[in-house]
Amino acid sequence: MTQGAPLDCRREQFDLPPDLHYLNCAYMSPLPRAVMDAGVEGIRRKADPSGIGPTDFFEGSDRIRARFAALVNAPRAESVALVPAASYAVATAVANLDIRAEHNVVLTMEQFPGNVYSWRDVARRSGAELRTVEPSRRAERGGDWNRRLLEAIDARTAVVTLGPVHWTDGTRFDLGAIAGRAREVGAALIVDGTQSVGAQPIDVTALAPDMLVAAAYKWLLGPYSIGCAYFGPRFADARPLEETWIARLGSENFSGLVDYVDEYQPGAIRFDVGERSNFILGPMLERSLELVLELDPRWIGRYIRDISAPLVAAARELGFGVEEDDWRADHMFGIRVPEHVDLERVQRLCGERRVFVSQRGNALRISPHVYNTAEDVGALIGVLTESVA
Ligand SMILES: Cc1ncc(COP(=O)(O)O)c(C=O)c1O
Repeated sequence: MTQGAPLDCRREQFDLPPDLHYLNCAYMSPLPRAVMDAGVEGIRRKADPSGIGPTDFFEGSDRIRARFAALVNAPRAESVALVPAASYAVATAVANLDIRAEHNVVLTMEQFPGNVYSWRDVARRSGAELRTVEPSRRAERGGDWNRRLLEAIDARTAVVTLGPVHWTDGTRFDLGAIAGRAREVGAALIVDGTQSVGAQPIDVTALAPDMLVAAAYKWLLGPYSIGCAYFGPRFADARPLEETWIARLGSENFSGLVDYVDEYQPGAIRFDVGERSNFILGPMLERSLELVLELDPRWIGRYIRDISAPLVAAARELGFGVEEDDWRADHMFGIRVPEHVDLERVQRLCGERRVFVSQRGNALRISPHVYNTAEDVGALIGVLTESVA
């Protein structure tokens, strides 16, 4: 990561219409122009495939691994697998964990479904308890929620699985403390970083999760249907979901592919999805990771926090609820709409003024990025102000 100073607005690096106030990166990021160009170039290469040689099946994928490893401070590029979705990496982890009737699996309330269904399935089959930790009913609930999570982890906990932030409202979870407690009881830690990797720093060497996945299409500024997953030593001898030819040792030798071998390529490469050498999405992800590294998640988070500060202040002043600063992420947060305010009116005003945010329950989820300006934030302040008038 190279950037050593606060960022200025990067709207010119994106292709957004000037009148659009897109504050919804947690839904889907816009594609940076450079990432679009990489995709178009990938399509061109496939138009004349004579230029695609055997080494291209490996080198591009390895560059993606190296860049993701740099982003999350993984010790080796080969501990990163290329996956089509966050749920794919979760399913890989679940399939390789020994979960029995006497165990429990700790997760947070209303977690993203892609990191719930596999656990529900294994709990049903094994008889293990799914321990869903709820927040308190207080408006500012982040501190309590974190305490409850730590209390829920006990000697019978086989797995703790969550994200560094809650996907609906950006509540921050203290992963350092949670990882420490999980380690104490010998539980695996499975982290869904889709809503945070790229917008806040994470260090897998320090945190030592057993798996950390991030889909690319949000905070990695990348395309849909691809992502990266770090796998730790717990999964060194684990089985992949599919037996791909390219994950086998020596697969670089295309003339020897039918000399079948039992050994896998090193590290987490075995967990790659079939046809992982995607000649369009791959170069796009490589470019988007480079951009995120260049901008630096620390400075991305800082930019978003600074640009959002007037919005947070205005929302609180107008009677909307925002989580305590200590327990919300810088890059995404919920604004709870008070009962006397008509949510439909808020939505209509957003539509009229081209303000894009997500609605989760009775809260708006705000998730800006470096393409957003003070005007974008001002447009949402205008909506909130008018909706209470
Ligand atoms: C926390 C979280 N994880 C994962 C995803 C996407 O999951 P998948 O890649 O399995 O579709 C989302 C999408 O909103 C999300 O919010």
